[in-house]
Amino acid sequence: MSSRIQVGIAGTGSYLPERVVPNAWFAEFLDTSDEWIAQRTGIRERRFAAEGQATSDLSAEAGRRALEMAGLEPEDLDLVIVGTLTPDYLLPSTACLVQDKLGAKNAGAFDCNAACTGFLTALHTAEAFVASGRAKRVLAIGAETLSRFIDKEERGSCILFGDGAGAAIVTSLEEAGRGEILRTKLGADGSGFDFIHMPGGGSAEPPTHESVEAGRHYIRLRGREVFRFAVSHMSELIQEMLEGRGEDELGLIVPHQVNKRIIDAALERIGMTEEKVVINIQNYANTSAATVPIALDEAVRQGRIEKGKLVVLVAFGAGLTWGASLLRW
Ligand code: UT7
Repeated sequence: MSSRIQVGIAGTGSYLPERVVPNAWFAEFLDTSDEWIAQRTGIRERRFAAEGQATSDLSAEAGRRALEMAGLEPEDLDLVIVGTLTPDYLLPSTACLVQDKLGAKNAGAFDCNAACTGFLTALHTAEAFVASGRAKRVLAIGAETLSRFIDKEERGSCILFGDGAGAAIVTSLEEAGRGEILRTKLGADGSGFDFIHMPGGGSAEPPTHESVEAGRHYIRLRGREVFRFAVSHMSELIQEMLEGRGEDELGLIVPHQVNKRIIDAALERIGMTEEKVVINIQNYANTSAATVPIALDEAVRQGRIEKGKLVVLVAFGAGLTWGASLLRW
């Protein structure tokens, strides 16, 4: 059997746009309220990208911060992977724009679209490249500008989303010195493709004046069905990652920030409390592929993760897709 290189996380970074959009902003033009949104989702405010600021701009800034923490230069990267459902363009990939913005002149670049599971898909791909010796240093990013794809007339969905980016530098554990990736899992069930989707704008329904007029290029979701899917997958994935591990080994759970009630229900199912769970949905709402790396970066910078303890990353979303990682910090 060929030897497998142990893989770790050498640095993390995140970037949130400056513009803060409180719940009350939506109440100016929709039949909704700060109280409804806060109670049903846990969200108080979110960030929206400035005009002219695209997913690659948010990604590059998060990537710069992760490189800085890792003590590496852009030229040290072999690969840039961006997990996003809101790319700058359908063509080319956002990762190529990030590669250029960072000056990562020795890196290959590609995107992966696994919606809210986008960062975990990028992380797992990065891990496979490094573990097999095909790349030494990979920048894995989760980034979104969802504010450009929300239907502001749909109160059931537009209040849920925000913009942001998070990143991790994946290298050999020897170089990283922490964040060993112990277990990974990815899953999908495409029969649920229309639980959360953008019907128009792609090859199935190319854009026309009529489709744009009808808002077919905006995010559509079946909220209650997603709610049920999310609770069951979050609880099962956490249990699967922690199987065979002692309770005292756990440092932190970093879940996809989809809805505070979904996180609460999943924790209740497996008899866990919030104490070891990162929750920041109140500040940023659901930034899809970016929620997990933003929350991880905040936890790292706040010194919330004790060395040697286990960290569980867990996400799920459109596709349907799901994924989880077990790390030893
Ligand atoms: O990452 C994946 C994407 N995220 C999701 O798909 C989100 C998952 N789902 C959810 O988080 C929740 O299902 C929602 C937050 C979307 C909705 O919460 P809910 O408790 O499932 O509410 P509901 O859809 O059952 O709606 C209850 C009521 C409805 O009114 P009626 O039919 O009872 O008269 C809605 O029209 O709340 C109404 N409603 C609102 N009222 C005020 C829906 N959105 C709003 C709103 N403000 N923004």
